[in-house]
Amino acid sequence: MTEWAAKVKLRRLRRVTYIFLCDRKFLYGAPQRTMNQVLYLYQRRNSNKLNGETTMTMNVLGFAAHSSREALTPYRFERRDPRTDDVVIDILYCGVCHSDLHQVRDDWGGSAYPLVPGHEIIGRVVRVGPDVNRFRQGDLVGVGCMVDSCQHCSACQSGLEQYCEESPTYTYNSVDRHDHTHTFGGYSEKIVVSDKFVLNIPDGLDLKGAAPLLCAGITTWSPLRHWNIGKGSNVAVIGLGGLGHMALKLAKALGADVTLFTRSPKKEQDARRLGADNVVLSTESAQMNAVKGQFELIIDTVPSVHDLNPYMPALSLDGTLVLVGFLGGIEPLLSTVPLIMGRKSVAGSVIGGIAETQEMLDFCGKHGITSDIEVIRIQDINDAYERLLKNDVKYRFVIDMTSLKE
Ligand SMILES: NC(=O)c1ccc[n+]([C@@H]2O[C@H](COP(=O)([O-])OP(=O)(O)OC[C@H]3O[C@@H](n4cnc5c(N)ncnc54)[C@H](OP(=O)(O)O)[C@@H]3O)[C@@H](O)[C@H]2O)c1
Ligand SMILES: [Zn+2]
Ligand SMILES: [Zn+2]
Repeated sequence: MTEWAAKVKLRRLRRVTYIFLCDRKFLYGAPQRTMNQVLYLYQRRNSNKLNGETTMTMNVLGFAAHSSREALTPYRFERRDPRTDDVVIDILYCGVCHSDLHQVRDDWGGSAYPLVPGHEIIGRVVRVGPDVNRFRQGDLVGVGCMVDSCQHCSACQSGLEQYCEESPTYTYNSVDRHDHTHTFGGYSEKIVVSDKFVLNIPDGLDLKGAAPLLCAGITTWSPLRHWNIGKGSNVAVIGLGGLGHMALKLAKALGADVTLFTRSPKKEQDARRLGADNVVLSTESAQMNAVKGQFELIIDTVPSVHDLNPYMPALSLDGTLVLVGFLGGIEPLLSTVPLIMGRKSVAGSVIGGIAETQEMLDFCGKHGITSDIEVIRIQDINDAYERLLKNDVKYRFVIDMTSLKE
């Protein structure tokens, strides 16, 4: 058969399959879907046929983005039948991270749709696989940004799964390393996760307020621990949002002297209540000059490209500015002069390992630390994104998942 004839045959086969799927109502309630989308969904739906055996899946309701320009809408999809080491979790609450918005809008490139966001998950265990002995039905648990990793590289062996050399499997917008299905996040009824990536929630913590600890909490805890922040340390945080407010609370509880850099004068009072000893308006050069040489660590949580140069003088000798908030280039150019003349560093950090996440949760349990939240219904998620962009949240939205049943 010539190449051309083979192509025609393939095209005919795809068209016949498409018509067959349409007849079988595999359109998932969306008649506007293209042929490729229907075929992709059909393949995805059948991707749980492992080694020729069909396994049972769970049909789950969630909210998904179908493109970078569309609002999130209700979406039904399949969760895998638990593997022997899996935990099935009924989701109670899910925090809304700025990373959800970045990925829904495809700010980083590579978003695959339909995309069900959510990686600040609190829920109750409803079922466990036969090899799970850390959790039982009824336990209150958390799931953060990762659901798996290779488990054998040197990073994984050191408890740094977030830096897995083969890349961790993220909770959503990622590909499962065993069955190659797409992962879907916490804006949904249930999730199925390997027990190694499930966290214990300490007794007594308010569950709604604990949800953001699974990302905002660990993302700020990890650099604080890595740079040995404790009593006598002088730390600053840039930006009072979801991450920033957790950084203030955690740094304060570790015993540090804490400063907030903000563009928002209205946030001063809140910042002091949340743990800041000092508040600096980053738009005021006199205030910026007054903190020259003060900080051994600055945690930068700003979610967009911004000038780092004004913050460099505020670092002390050997001080580090650690970026957690923005993936992309540094603009305008960063001057090397303060770096060289003060042996200063600019670093980056991503979430934290599983053991470190448990350490942070236990610390929060001991110190009664949770996030300051506004509870929303899932139906309000698109408004919440717009408000997040307008800096109008105090200081984390958390979705009450019972609203999915409305
Ligand atoms: N590295 C990681 O592992 C990790 C984990 C989670 C999230 N993230 C990223 O961290 C970033 C922050 O997330 P979030 O959920 O905390 O966001 P957020 O709640 O929107 O807070 C960001 C804060 O940054 C400040 N800000 C916003 N735009 C700014 C600008 N143009 N210039 C200066 N300051 C600005 C604002 O504080 P003020 O009003 O006080 O200035 C704002 O409240 C996002 O990019 C997110 O993707 C990274
Ligand atoms: Zn996050
Ligand atoms: Zn690894």
